[in-house]
Amino acid sequence: MDQIIVQGNGPLQGEIPIAGAKNACLTLMPATLLTDQPLTLTNAPRLSDIRTMTVLLQSLGAEVASLQDGKVLSLSSHALDSHRAEYDIVRKMRASILVLGPMLARDGRAEVSLPGGCAIGARPVDLHLKALEAMGAELDLRDGYVYAKAPSGGLRGAVVEFPLVSVGATENALMAATLARGTTVLKNAAREPEIADLARCLRRMGAQIEGEGTETITVQGVDSLGGATHPVVTDRIELGTYMLAPAMCGGEVELLGGRIDLLAAFCEKLDEAGISVEETPRGLKVARRNGRVRAVDVTTEPYPGFPTDLQAQFMALMCLAEGTSTLEETIFENRFMHAPELTRMGAQIEVHGGQARVTGVEELRGAPVMATDLRASVSLILAGMAAEGQTTISRVYHLDRGYEHVVRKLRGVGAHIERVKEE
Ligand code: EPZ
Repeated sequence: MDQIIVQGNGPLQGEIPIAGAKNACLTLMPATLLTDQPLTLTNAPRLSDIRTMTVLLQSLGAEVASLQDGKVLSLSSHALDSHRAEYDIVRKMRASILVLGPMLARDGRAEVSLPGGCAIGARPVDLHLKALEAMGAELDLRDGYVYAKAPSGGLRGAVVEFPLVSVGATENALMAATLARGTTVLKNAAREPEIADLARCLRRMGAQIEGEGTETITVQGVDSLGGATHPVVTDRIELGTYMLAPAMCGGEVELLGGRIDLLAAFCEKLDEAGISVEETPRGLKVARRNGRVRAVDVTTEPYPGFPTDLQAQFMALMCLAEGTSTLEETIFENRFMHAPELTRMGAQIEVHGGQARVTGVEELRGAPVMATDLRASVSLILAGMAAEGQTTISRVYHLDRGYEHVVRKLRGVGAHIERVKEE
């Protein structure tokens, strides 16, 4: 397995291009199952999760071609020759569950392995299943799979009230509703920009959707959907991650394609901490105002609140802040696994359940550490760049799931970082 070796860094300078959003692309790709017409996605990120979704869709009989070095995905699913999403693919990537709603809506049947949990939590899919049942689906859970069937006339529109906000359940229900007979109303829907991006793409395909980005989404079902060409929205989590590089190391970095409107809550916290964010014609310019970063408290929330996917990275910043910061993780039950690794680097962090209290220190020291999940792995890189000495990060395969060319992008602004084969 590869390792990443990071040397402590001086101020950074230069620009980082921001890719298309992993979490948008992973819900846009299954939308091909809703139509027999071609769907083209541009600005696609080059990530292992995208390759896993490609393999899954191809296993169902969809054609997926990766063009222009992976930046363009050409998808089509004339007729599916399988409706079974096998466990050995689904277990690698939980977003595989997003083929359930589209397959059910288009062909009236689906057999999808239940995704296991993962490092950050149990990750149940009960809300996905309840929404589809509300649309008339008959679901049978056995031997680790959900066997789903639509009524003879197809799924029917329904009012679905989510008891808690779920990004994936909203996406599955939204895609299924586009072909259901009648009107579907999704209440307490997730409001993430990736869902708004999915709605824009579905509308290009002929879907009738209103209210995406608010807590109530209304869909008028149609008989069929056509093809479309759609640009994947920029990745706000990659953006926020790289904004923290100059925040931690000093200097000034421009994030090309970055959009401040996708990260308002995060940028407010950066401002409170003493980081300046300036909109430019090409994206966002970020620099640390003079002096040490100040400690600020953060609570993760569904969009438009502070994103849980930036909590680990922000904790790395708070390790060097002046004062004590309290980080509340309200979305997932086990998302502080980066804390003990940061502590190995000299950070002062106390974790009690869903709360971490970080007392800033003057200096972090490089150490051997281990990546435990996608976002934790990149928080260790950020910490290593701001530490004295060398940090070696193992199990970096987590990184490849969500960050394309991370070494190249950070080297481009002066980071001393390399990727090596583990001895
Ligand atoms: C999506 O996961 C993202 N993944 C996650 O990003 C992100 O952290 C999460 O949304 C929250 O923003 C993708 O989009 C592929 P949820 P998802 O359903 O849809 C509970 C990353 O790092 N829940 O909004 O799985 C669940 O346990 C990843 O890129 C149920 O109880 O998240 C969690 O506590 C990590 N029952 C909460 O809801 C359900 O049926 C939010 O989960 C579904 C979810």
